[in-house]
Amino acid sequence: MVDHLTPLASIPPDVRTLADYERRAPAQLTADVWAHIQDVAGTGLSAQDNRAAFDRWRLMPRALADLVGGTTAFDLFGERHAAPVLVAPLAYGRIAHPEGERAIIRAATAIGIGYILSTLSSVTLEEVAEARRSAEAQLGGAAPLWFQLYLQPRREDSLALVRRAEAAGYHAIVLTIDAGVKPSGFILPPGVEAANLRDMPRAQHVAAAGGRIIFGTALADAVPSWDDLAWLREVTQLPLLVKGMMAPGDAQRMVAAGVDGLIVSNHGGRVLDGLPAALDQLREIVAAVGDTPVLIDGGVRCGTDVVKALCLGAHAVLVGRPVLHALAVAGLPGAAHALHLLRTEVEVAMAQLGCATIADLTLERLVPPIGRT
Ligand code: FNR
Repeated sequence: MVDHLTPLASIPPDVRTLADYERRAPAQLTADVWAHIQDVAGTGLSAQDNRAAFDRWRLMPRALADLVGGTTAFDLFGERHAAPVLVAPLAYGRIAHPEGERAIIRAATAIGIGYILSTLSSVTLEEVAEARRSAEAQLGGAAPLWFQLYLQPRREDSLALVRRAEAAGYHAIVLTIDAGVKPSGFILPPGVEAANLRDMPRAQHVAAAGGRIIFGTALADAVPSWDDLAWLREVTQLPLLVKGMMAPGDAQRMVAAGVDGLIVSNHGGRVLDGLPAALDQLREIVAAVGDTPVLIDGGVRCGTDVVKALCLGAHAVLVGRPVLHALAVAGLPGAAHALHLLRTEVEVAMAQLGCATIADLTLERLVPPIGRT
């Protein structure tokens, strides 16, 4: 049993926004776990920019718009999503709550929101797929479930993970490319492990000769390459997305390599400080890749953030830390409540903007930041 502070037995009545969960979460976590969840690289420039980028835009409603038949739902890779929001891949869900990823998938299923399970989940990918099946049977809901892949030092281990995800019914593979050389000082609490990687050798981060801490280490050697991407495209028929690219030229080359979708992300500002906000890269990337679905994450905290990203060309957004905050505060009901809040806020924002469908969320619904276009 993981040594957690006890989550609350019910959702406190004054919790009405994701920010309320964030305020309460530190009281439910150890200081180390809280610091790890909130961690940002360097001085936090990129993490601050993620938020500031959303706050620079203002909204412009369509007057007298017809809202009959309105919906927040949309289809992506042949699956229905109740709202254009997915839960981002988050390593080690059990640091926030003993039920970890099992609680997240049940919450997502209840609300009809997609979930991208991390390679570094603390519950196996098969157990999460099973939890989804039982939640769907109980609730009659459905949630798209994708698998996020961190390439492993041995290709056969990466392949085994892909095959396991396919066999367990995951609908897409998300290759994360931006965190391969992220040295981490976080020590996992007892009882929490990378459950999918039992029996697999891991890239150990041991300093190399000459005082080098990245170059020449196994960590640097295991970083994904264009060859790896081509290989992955070969070995799976599932929709393949890449998470963590920021440059339009890279995005274009990925699409040419057969990638089906892109997730523009600076990893929540946790890796390279000084990267631009994902939102600020979005329009150029969308313009570069045409019809290929582009998703985005980093700093999404409310419904108007979601609609702003969609107006700028995103097909959907991912939400990361807030899910762990809500899970820590009130377990499964907390996570479901947070996703419900976000979904409801998207619906209200769309209705108030005069947008009955996702397709109505276009650039005309935004007032550009002062001094920029
Ligand atoms: C992450 N993120 C992440 N991304 C990924 O591809 N695989 C992973 O295992 C993890 N693990 C992880 C753990 C924790 C604690 C955090 C906070 C983040 C990054 C995540 O998917 C996403 O890109 C950011 O969290 C988005 O920013 P916000 O919503 O947290 O601001």
